[in-house]
Amino acid sequence: MPRSWPPPPALSPDLSQQPLAGLPGATLEVAAAVDGVAERAAGLLLQALEAGGPVGLATGRTMQPVYAALRRQVAQWSESRCQRLLSRWCSFNLDEYVGLGAADRGSFAAEMAAALAVPLGLAPGCLQLPDGLAADPDVEARRYGVAVATAGGIALQLLGLGSNGHVGFNEPPCPRQAPSRCLELSPATRHQNAAAFGADPAAVPERAITLGTAEILAAREVLLVVTGGAKAEILRRSLQESPEPGVPASWLQTHPCLRVLVDADAASALRLS
Ligand code: GLP
Repeated sequence: MPRSWPPPPALSPDLSQQPLAGLPGATLEVAAAVDGVAERAAGLLLQALEAGGPVGLATGRTMQPVYAALRRQVAQWSESRCQRLLSRWCSFNLDEYVGLGAADRGSFAAEMAAALAVPLGLAPGCLQLPDGLAADPDVEARRYGVAVATAGGIALQLLGLGSNGHVGFNEPPCPRQAPSRCLELSPATRHQNAAAFGADPAAVPERAITLGTAEILAAREVLLVVTGGAKAEILRRSLQESPEPGVPASWLQTHPCLRVLVDADAASALRLS
């Protein structure tokens, strides 16, 4: 059971907590469908953001319903609670493509502006990402890692799961303690993310800046969110086979406070104990 404080919001009736074979320290929460996953993830993120974060945020299709649920939940709040959230907001996104800035539609900066910063009215600088337009991406990656450490490290790290087992843009093979860095994206990842680039993998940037597995594993809590049957097998390999560089997400097994939040389809290959 994660040692989180304050305790997480109570489970809604459509979520069940299940024991994960071979990983007794982790918490597995299964919702019947994506909506239940999104509402739960949004509630956990908001709780951490209200506590002052810093919260680690992720991009990708899995996170779109999560951020939609977050916007819906905040829309129900009183004005004063909203203002308090906005004034305390401190987040660091995992990654960004090299060569893309907020004005580029495929950038994660643009994705986060559309999903959260603009609709919530966040002040510039609250929602931080690596600068994909930095003159020297290696220097920028190091600066970003230092910025996270200077902020006190990540309190709650939200993660999606790449189809090849990447987290952030930590591509396989990846050691357990890889630092924030600039790296080459694999053909599999450029293919996976082509939808945001006119369905053309060749149009996906070749390099990205990502927080490393070192910063991710240093987070006080990790929230891994996975939906859909297409990721069921890579999720099983990530959680229930020995940790190894070929599946970067498998290093999450070594985190002392891991919460895995999935829909029934993504959970379908997992062994429960
Ligand atoms: C992307 C991002 C990850 C994301 C993952 C899954 O490449 N860098 O942070 O979690 O791949 O993406 P999706 O949710 O679209 O399947």
